Amino acid sequence: MKRRVAILISGRGSNMAALIQAARAQDFPAEIVVVISNRADAGGLALAVQNGVATAIVESKPFGRDRAAFEAQVQSVLDEHRVELICLAGFMRLLTAEFVQRWHGRMLNIHPSLLPSFPGIDPARQALAAGVKISGATVHFVIPETDAGPIVMQGAVPVAEDDTPETLAARILKVEHRIYPDALRLLASGGIRLAGNICRTTGSIDHGQRLISPAPR
Ligand code: GRF
Repeated sequence: MKRRVAILISGRGSNMAALIQAARAQDFPAEIVVVISNRADAGGLALAVQNGVATAIVESKPFGRDRAAFEAQVQSVLDEHRVELICLAGFMRLLTAEFVQRWHGRMLNIHPSLLPSFPGIDPARQALAAGVKISGATVHFVIPETDAGPIVMQGAVPVAEDDTPETLAARILKVEHRIYPDALRLLASGGIRLAGNICRTTGSIDHGQRLISPAPR
């Protein structure tokens, strides 16, 4: 039985699209049963519809600071679709500790940096300001602290001398689209075990892989 997944978005939805695309494969262990946006103008909504995925809009703005009331609405959509796993994909609303606890071990997020470096906003700009030579993306379980939680999978990219936050973010986005479906596959197929703040996986490492940046002459 495929695991039933909801994707929560606020914007353009390119990670959402990558997940939907991957889940089309017959042997993929999860199906995307609903996309929920907290913004009516999220570009990803049209993309989800085009792909034949059910959508729901639960606007967060009218709820103001009442996060719990907003989440109760979201939860009822999740219940309606019998959702088992959640993927946050550019979802720009903070969640309460209660909601996060309820979905403990069943809710993933993707962040465009190699966590724990550069949590928060504009991680590509933060990476350039720190002068790192390698950055990347992280899929992690959601815990109450923002951009933290057991790390499921990471993908690395080199940082170029002439990168701007935009060019670096674009390079990282490509690796996001690669690792988010892979991480969901791992979770949905039962290949993950949580040991406190550490995520143990059945994923294997590629012993031949090296990323050195800048490349030595
Ligand atoms: C991605 O960079 C994701 O890592 C971050 O927000 C961005 C969302 O982009 N959390 P998209 O909506 O998936 O295109």
